[in-house]
Amino acid sequence: MDAATDRQLTYDPYDIEIDVDPYPTYRRLRDEAPVYYDEKFDFWGLSRFDDVETGLRDTANLSNAKGDILEVVKAEPNMPEGVFINEDPPLHTVHRLLVSRAFTPKKMRAIEEQVRAFCAACLDPLVGGDRFNFTLDLGAEMPMRVIGMLVGMPDSLQRSVRSIAHRRLRNEPGKPLKVSKDNYFNGNMFAEYVDWRAKNPSDDLVTELLNIEFEDVSGTVRRLNSEELLVFLGVIANAGTETVGRLFGWLGKLLGEHPDQRRELVADPSLIGGAVEEVLRFEPPVHNIARYVSNDIEYHGQTIPAGSALLLMAGAANRDERKFDDPDRFDIHRNANHLSFGRGTHFCLGASLARLEGRVALEEILKRWPDWTVDLDNAVRAPTATVRGWDSMPVVVG
Ligand code: HEM
Repeated sequence: MDAATDRQLTYDPYDIEIDVDPYPTYRRLRDEAPVYYDEKFDFWGLSRFDDVETGLRDTANLSNAKGDILEVVKAEPNMPEGVFINEDPPLHTVHRLLVSRAFTPKKMRAIEEQVRAFCAACLDPLVGGDRFNFTLDLGAEMPMRVIGMLVGMPDSLQRSVRSIAHRRLRNEPGKPLKVSKDNYFNGNMFAEYVDWRAKNPSDDLVTELLNIEFEDVSGTVRRLNSEELLVFLGVIANAGTETVGRLFGWLGKLLGEHPDQRRELVADPSLIGGAVEEVLRFEPPVHNIARYVSNDIEYHGQTIPAGSALLLMAGAANRDERKFDDPDRFDIHRNANHLSFGRGTHFCLGASLARLEGRVALEEILKRWPDWTVDLDNAVRAPTATVRGWDSMPVVVG
């Protein structure tokens, strides 16, 4: 019996030891407590794939309006209008529709070459050396740069935005995230850019959003004010920076540890998209998606009462043997139909962008270094409960 099976079944989402390898605990939760209640932190948890998927689609009984991170749901901070990841329909529908114009297939095609050029600029100076760092050399820089490309931000304005985004969503190791009730969310990091762009319009998202007319929930047709626009940009930056950074660390680690599968990708780059999906299933950056229970719900004969905080445990669901054959085996050839981007109404708006970033980066890395070994002794874990992974993932190349 190993430590995880020996222990009384509790799941502390902030426990550093569990975080290193949460999968034995997840297995026990799925088998022994598919409807889990945690007394210490007062939350409920669903861990089986079908239950998590059902929960993610259940906007009638499970609300995003108090947040989708456990600490936020508990703290009930003041939320400015427009933080649509934390809104329910119909408000969510209006706001998401506006922002989704940034993520059309046409926009993604246009951005692909820019992303590739950025990867080349980062990677080429390192060719000839014997080391590469998946997070520090690429993962920490690229996601915010890409959001900059998406919104048309010039390089000169990007540095301050990146450092603010990096400080957000970070908790002290082993402790819950501190949530400020009065200043949980502001989009001020983009204020300088939006001011500048209003005076320098071009063919970019911010110009488009500043000029668009839309019907708000009261039926009034109007333009967005700059405060609303800043909130939208803040949502994109918060949701699309640390998450993609963590994906990069896992790409380096998992493909370093599975050299045969990595060599298949070198021989046939058309497999790379599938490999990114399997990395997302096997080690998702976001493990727990929280909800506020607005009406009593019942799973497996047990009632989860209205007023509760509920974790939809995507990281546990992705390893459910009821859904995946041999789920603890990393296999780039499987149909990795995971829950790592959520499902339904709040399905990750940036999923196509995150997939593009992962695929293009991997294509460019494998072209330069078909072989690498993970330097785990010098790797550094990220001390975040909201996104799980690595701050530093060094590898030795060649
Ligand atoms: C590997 C990287 C990523 C992961 C694992 C991820 C994960 C998620 C998850 C699980 C949700 C659902 C939250 C919920 O149901 O409450 C979500 C929503 C969202 N994501 Fe991502 N995300 C990633 C990258 C991105 C990127 C690159 C962007 C944008 C640049 C982005 C923007 C958003 C937005 C705006 C939402 C809210 C959608 C809504 O509420 O309608 N994400 N993401």
